[in-house]
Amino acid sequence: MTEQTTPDDITATVLASFGRSPDERLGTVMRSLTAHLHAFVKDVALTEEEWRAAIGVLTATGHITTGKRQEWILWSDALGVSMLVDALANRAPASGAGDGGGPAGAATESTVQGPFYVPGAPRRGYGERIDEMPAGEPLWVHGTIRSLDGRPLPGAELDVWQNGDNELYAVQDPEAPETHLRGRFTAREDGSYGFITVRPTPYPIPHDGPVGRMLSATGRHPWRPAHIHVIVRAPGHRPVTTHVFDRDSEHIDSDAVFAVKPSLLRELVARSADDPERPPGITGAWWSLTSDFVLVPVGPAG
Ligand code: BEZ
Ligand code: FE
Repeated sequence: MTEQTTPDDITATVLASFGRSPDERLGTVMRSLTAHLHAFVKDVALTEEEWRAAIGVLTATGHITTGKRQEWILWSDALGVSMLVDALANRAPASGAGDGGGPAGAATESTVQGPFYVPGAPRRGYGERIDEMPAGEPLWVHGTIRSLDGRPLPGAELDVWQNGDNELYAVQDPEAPETHLRGRFTAREDGSYGFITVRPTPYPIPHDGPVGRMLSATGRHPWRPAHIHVIVRAPGHRPVTTHVFDRDSEHIDSDAVFAVKPSLLRELVARSADDPERPPGITGAWWSLTSDFVLVPVGPAG
């Protein structure tokens, strides 16, 4: 009489089935995925009812996903996987030596891109505004783009996008022009950039689907703290996709997608209408935010 098949026998058979994968990396990934997935099922002693519910969640995720709504990436974001993959791919090097004539500084840390980036934002000049309809209180954002050794990077590109006070990005808002709250700026000879925008507000990630149901069922909220997205690019340097966060924003300690890093927190300074530093183009009371960006040169090893 043969012995009964155990749960561990099943795991071993599946692991062995990936032993001859012609793509070695794929074989490694599938064996590790199998090992962790089987360990998880055993760890929680997954019931048949729970398995059926999980299939329902995956099916609903497929159904709600369209070209404009990517619920799979939202799962990755809400489970911290997007931040983990980003952290593994973009390990920050140590601070620069400061021998490029400017201040030494640590490389700007990356964070998630999110689903609302649209390539091809309009090119705008130094000091121009990105809000194309009323969207909140005026904010002057400025700073310098430098290389790791402190050298300014004239010609570097700052690609910016953010939400307005209705909590929406232009791609989500049928009332907004598609270029609203988006822009690409070029750093000047001294590496400086500056633009006028509005104070970003916290907003919830899309929460009318399976991810939103998971958040409320587990007592989590869907909110992100106020932030501005940027991608900074310069020839000979690794581009960085990141945010600057309003350090005083609500939800700064409980971002729904775990994207806050201490080095990305910035102070928004309240300014009066008669402040002598008020940029042309702003009337009345305003806010200012200073943020430098430091890029890592692409070395011989890439
Ligand atoms: C965002 O910041 O735009 C974002 C990031 C992850 C999920 C949803 C939105
Ligand atoms: Fe965002």
